[in-house]
Amino acid sequence: GRSWTKIGDLDDAAEGRSVLIRGATQTIRPVSKKMAFVVLRQSMGTVQCVLVANPDTGVSTQMVRFATSLSKESIVDVEGVVSLPKEPLKATTQQVEVQVRKIYCINRAIPTLPINLEDAARSEAEFEKAEQAGEKLVRVGQDTRLNYRAIDLRTPANQAIFRIQCQVENKFREFLLSKDFVGIHTPKLISGSSEGGAAVFKLLYNGQPACLAQSPQLYKQMAICGGYERVFEVGPVFRAENSNTHRHLCEFVGLDAEMEIKEHYFEVCDIIDGLFVSIFKHLTENCKKELETINRQYPFEPLQYLEKTLKLTYEEGIQMLKEAGIEIEPMGDLNTEAEKKLGRLVKEKYGTDFFILYRYPLAVRPFYTMPCEEIISGAQRIHTPELLAKRATECGIDVSTISAYIESFSYGAPPHGGFGVGLERVVMLFCALNNIRKTSMFPRDPQRLVP
Ligand code: 4AD
Repeated sequence: GRSWTKIGDLDDAAEGRSVLIRGATQTIRPVSKKMAFVVLRQSMGTVQCVLVANPDTGVSTQMVRFATSLSKESIVDVEGVVSLPKEPLKATTQQVEVQVRKIYCINRAIPTLPINLEDAARSEAEFEKAEQAGEKLVRVGQDTRLNYRAIDLRTPANQAIFRIQCQVENKFREFLLSKDFVGIHTPKLISGSSEGGAAVFKLLYNGQPACLAQSPQLYKQMAICGGYERVFEVGPVFRAENSNTHRHLCEFVGLDAEMEIKEHYFEVCDIIDGLFVSIFKHLTENCKKELETINRQYPFEPLQYLEKTLKLTYEEGIQMLKEAGIEIEPMGDLNTEAEKKLGRLVKEKYGTDFFILYRYPLAVRPFYTMPCEEIISGAQRIHTPELLAKRATECGIDVSTISAYIESFSYGAPPHGGFGVGLERVVMLFCALNNIRKTSMFPRDPQRLVP
């Protein structure tokens, strides 16, 4: 095949070279019958292509006319020569131009798209500035964006967000593999709920009542019973959440791990600590371009974390809140407000956005949690069938629906613990985005099943 150059790779080292590029027509600006500018975009890169009718280069006035007749967002191939611009280019990421020799339209977009990409890519600050200047710009709402996600995904910030997501997932695997974890896949069609509670999608499985897995929880523990000392899974998790919040989805990507505990559940904390610090470091050091791109549309302060993650007991957390005038029931759960407030207090005192809150009250944790031994969004688990059955019953779970799970612990099961975190939540946290729908490519929430 021919040799293609990525638009994002075009720089002044390519001056004078003939290149072949493909991109979407972002803007088309006729100057005269003999001249036009076309900005082409490919993922996060944009470049200005210049058409000048000239018998010496073989560019005709028809070709210029053809280029200016293209609709925005059409896919075109350009053959041309890289040149340096006379002045710095403000509208493109690449600081070179391509002097077009040939241009081919591969597929036309409809003349008017349902959302305007330029508007969709603007930051709030730009809107405010324009408003003050008396200009009228159209804000593209979250719902409209999601309705036309195939267009919305083309904004630079969105191009960056899902590249960041991919890096988080990759680093999660890489780190755990380096610690001797084995990647597994557990069923998503299951016979009973795995996290308890009402947030479960019910369905019929060959006529039998069944549900979509709310987590790989019971199965990753059974893998431990099955002699795998350390396992992890990256897979879909289904929650029939009926709350419309900025941080709940009905389907998300679960990053889960489970491991044998030799002496103390802090072994799990150490994995969480090493894992997240490695993810944060990787993003900070190797994803600068993506983070800058997100920052341009959604400005944020970089996430602060410590080389060794801070561990606070639940009691210490409650105490900090109390000193700030917020009373929490000693055995109750932290609501979102309290959680946020504690986050701010910890940041002031310890200079970190990321910390482990442990020794969570048992009453607010799922049945399979070992009494008294808690880890942020994970815990040490019960490994004896008697206690497990007792706690399940206390939590109102019909033990007959999970008998195979409970029995697994009577065949010889080591002490173990683990954790789970939502991929979308990690990206949301790291980039301080205000809505989880921004970090899910095709989000599923109580109102949305399409696209
Ligand atoms: O806290 P959760 O419910 O814990 C479990 O599922 C356990 N089985 C995990 C474990 O190993 N102990 O969910 C785990 C994580 C949360 O911390 C959050 O990051 C994410 O999953 N999460 C959601 N993300 C998006 N939308 C939702 N509705 C979520 N519910 C939980």
